[in-house]
Amino acid sequence: MKTAASLAVPLVFALSAAASPSPVDTTHQLSARQCASSLDIANTIATRLQDNYFNIITGEYSGGEHWTDANNIENIHNLMLATGQDQWSDLADNSYLGRTANLEYDLGISLWSDILGGSWDDAQWIILALWKIADYKAARGDSNDAYLQSALTIYSLVEAAWDNTCGGGVWWSSADNYKNSVTNELFLLVSAVGAINFPSNTAFLTNAKKAQAWIASSALRNSQNLFNDGLVTATCANNGQTVWIYNQVGVIRRPFVAFVLIVPQGAIAAGLGALYVSTGDESLLTEAELTLDATIAHLTQGGILKESCDDAVSPNCNSDQVAFKGIFMKHLQYYLDRANNATRTAKYAGFIHAQASGVYHYGTDSSSDIGSVWYAPSQGGSIFDSASSGSGLAAHIVNAKYGPCESL
Ligand SMILES: *[C@@H]1O[C@H](CO)[C@@H](O)[C@H](O)[C@H]1NC(C)=O
Repeated sequence: MKTAASLAVPLVFALSAAASPSPVDTTHQLSARQCASSLDIANTIATRLQDNYFNIITGEYSGGEHWTDANNIENIHNLMLATGQDQWSDLADNSYLGRTANLEYDLGISLWSDILGGSWDDAQWIILALWKIADYKAARGDSNDAYLQSALTIYSLVEAAWDNTCGGGVWWSSADNYKNSVTNELFLLVSAVGAINFPSNTAFLTNAKKAQAWIASSALRNSQNLFNDGLVTATCANNGQTVWIYNQVGVIRRPFVAFVLIVPQGAIAAGLGALYVSTGDESLLTEAELTLDATIAHLTQGGILKESCDDAVSPNCNSDQVAFKGIFMKHLQYYLDRANNATRTAKYAGFIHAQASGVYHYGTDSSSDIGSVWYAPSQGGSIFDSASSGSGLAAHIVNAKYGPCESL
């Protein structure tokens, strides 16, 4: 998120760091079957991503932002957890985000408030990356304390941005003028994951339930079971203006229509799936699949995800938008991890294979970079950058786990 919001003031919250250090999710993730041929492709893509786009000096990806970098770092660690390999074991500590975490842990200097700039959606993508790194380090027997501490620091900042305007919800930014889908779907997700990984820290489950109830009662979800971008602050009604707001892309870089229609749909499912683990309430899975299925029904072409800005002929997406489809796929993976149900997994296997196939045949160039357009061969419209390559990578990683393991 890009905004002129003023910096948030760090606040101290009740969440304590004295939680169990080893997230429980790693066992489940490592136990699932993985398709070797899909992992081979993913390794090739990841190697190219790191060699071509990752800057070892800055610890950032060229052309990326903190939140897209966070997603790329998460993807690389998700891949190493899948393969059991360690090609990028240094990535976390070398990354800008990892250095920031280590600085806070080693020297007590926290830059998070400055870095986040009051963007509470970006903040939560970073929490997810820090926790994925922590999963990886725990799986390798390494200390993950710095990553867990920083995740908690950031979580406390986000948690403080909840208030009762429109009955609840976390503000999109420290400007406190907009409540939207993705920020709150992420708050549900990170709270529910926190509840699983740190059960002694009861604030996580309380917040997850609070977020789920508020999202369900809010006007965020429309009659198609898709989430619009957000609420009209004055009335708390669904803002329903996704088409026009998209035209403001130069003002607020995040393209509302595309962001609303792809990314949150994955995050809401992953959040509901994670809350299901703690509550056993299977209706949460039914609710999640309403939105997953609506996304597949309405936001695909020829069975392959197509962002509203995706265009095989002329490049229309910005550097945020090119990341969205892969984030959707990654969170579909996380949803299926949490649902842990063969019937539900089988339901999405064909869709998952189709995305990997689109990425492979239409999206990938001869250098193993992946462009933004998956649904058709590029005629010049596919955008190639670090975020689009990481997005395609995510499609292969989920296909290795939950696809049919058939040739692409
Ligand atoms: C798996 O999901 C199906 C619905 O798709 C449900 O009927 C079934 O009870 C679930 N199985 C388990 C073991 O939870």
